Amino acid sequence: MVELVPSILSADFARLAEEIAAAERGGGTVIHVDVMDGHFVPNITIGPPVVASLRKATKLPLDCHLMIENPDEFIPAFADAGANWVSVHYEACRHLHRTLELIASHGMKPGVVLNPATRVEVIRDILPMVHHVLIMSVNPGFGGQKFIEFSLDKIRELARLRAELGLRFRIEVDGGVAHDTVERVVQAGAELLVAGNAVFGAGDAERHARDLLDAAKRAAG
Ligand code: DX5
Ligand code: ZN
Repeated sequence: MVELVPSILSADFARLAEEIAAAERGGGTVIHVDVMDGHFVPNITIGPPVVASLRKATKLPLDCHLMIENPDEFIPAFADAGANWVSVHYEACRHLHRTLELIASHGMKPGVVLNPATRVEVIRDILPMVHHVLIMSVNPGFGGQKFIEFSLDKIRELARLRAELGLRFRIEVDGGVAHDTVERVVQAGAELLVAGNAVFGAGDAERHARDLLDAAKRAAG
């Protein structure tokens, strides 16, 4: 089933509770939280204290996308803050297997993220451990970037691998998901559609979320 995962990166950070409520009314079912440290990516955003506040503002699962070096150091703090899903970058983890176990041991759903330049094949052996795989369809760091077309091949490859291995992890896509790309993204096999700019970039998040989700559902058939 296709789900809309609004990314608060493009929301008004002074009005996060209202923005999330609007996106939820528009059909968003998971809230995507982009955590950036200024080292792994060239931008800085938010951390556990904001997650703890968001936890009080919504009942929806909080999907924390960690774009940080040394994620192991911060996983307990995200658990304490009330994060539900935590995904870490393949490129940021020296011991990915251990990091995924650490996330699960804190009662959260582990996910792994691949940058555009990273091949799907490299995560084959750890796929049984993950709840979701996030395919980056832009280089991480900023909202509102242009969708990278070859991400569609990676989504298809991941769906093929999931079938081959008989697994059930969910396929998430992040970056440039908007009206001009959503149909192809869904048809390639993505089920969790992260969208920042397309939901929050132009006011009226409720309407923009609903329009995008409707388009996604039509594409899913
Ligand atoms: C980028 C973030 C994305 C971002 C996507 O590093 O991981 O979650 O919010 O933004 P849009 O949907 O605007 O491309
Ligand atoms: Zn993200």
